[in-house]
Amino acid sequence: MEIPTGTQGHFSQGLLLSASVLALWAPQGSWAALRIQTIPERPQKNQDVLLSVQGIPDTFQDFIWYRGKETDGGTRLFTYIPDIPRPQRDGSAMEQRDIVGFPNGSMLLRDAQPRDSGTYHVEVHINPSWTMRAKTEVQV
Ligand SMILES: *[C@@H]1O[C@H](CO)[C@@H](O)[C@H](O)[C@H]1NC(C)=O
Repeated sequence: MEIPTGTQGHFSQGLLLSASVLALWAPQGSWAALRIQTIPERPQKNQDVLLSVQGIPDTFQDFIWYRGKETDGGTRLFTYIPDIPRPQRDGSAMEQRDIVGFPNGSMLLRDAQPRDSGTYHVEVHINPSWTMRAKTEVQV
């Protein structure tokens, strides 16, 4: 009986240590930086462009994509609220663009045109007191 108990003690100490190291590092590692990756990096006219959001937490309330430097009603492309029947609500900056939002925060711009070049800005509402933002320049 003594040997297994000792082994078990060691084992759970190790687990406990890993758990606290994870608890210390997870918030920084996964949430410190929201980043947008443009795929492909240099989109050509008529190509589909994915603005892929990296570093988004597993749970969040909603996200909003804007086209431009300001984040207001006039620059809002769409709002996306996951887990509801019609998650994507288009805003006034959508105009004739063909843009689809995904539950992971990314957006796909279909048939990109030179006029789509410019700043794209994403705002992720994690909870009522925590918002994360990222922006990127797209050149078509
Ligand atoms: C987000 O979802 C889209 C569509 O399923 C996928 O193409 C893209 O790679 C995903 N991005 C990330 C960062 O997981």
